[in-house]
Amino acid sequence: MIEKRDIENYFTELTLIKEKNLRNKVVEVWKNAADRGGWTNLQEIPFTLLFENSGLLVDHTKRITKLAWKVANTREEPLNKDYVVAGALLHDVGKLLEYEPKEGKIVKSGFGEKTRHPAAGSQLAEECNLPREIVHIIAAHSHEGDTMNRTAEAIIIHHCDFIDFEIKKRK
Ligand SMILES: [Fe+2]
Repeated sequence: MIEKRDIENYFTELTLIKEKNLRNKVVEVWKNAADRGGWTNLQEIPFTLLFENSGLLVDHTKRITKLAWKVANTREEPLNKDYVVAGALLHDVGKLLEYEPKEGKIVKSGFGEKTRHPAAGSQLAEECNLPREIVHIIAAHSHEGDTMNRTAEAIIIHHCDFIDFEIKKRK
């Protein structure tokens, strides 16, 4: 079983979130997703199944959070940076339900055949009573959000995510 402490230790970017209650909720969502998906180690989950050797989901998540933090701090518009960091840390948490370990490999789960991670992740966040702005970032971060009116924070996460996806896919 993955413990909250493992999640906190791995995602050191959590300290960028000012509101303690929000920080705890982010950890709670990861914990619930890990338990529900039956994961025992954060380091066994790949970033994506869409191409080979994509690396780890947790490392992708850390890269997006750092990137989004830099972008948010470069912008002059008023942004909720707690939402940017929490949204970045949670944007792909639904992959813990979309994927599953099977016979030594990580494959798409039965659940994942019907529900992609933006929907799964936003649902998990909603269950833990995260602010609806963060639920929106998760729901809108991928192509699902192309027809939504993304907030500025969601636009940042969406583009940072695709920077990483496209660069990783190239090699
Ligand atoms: Fe992502």
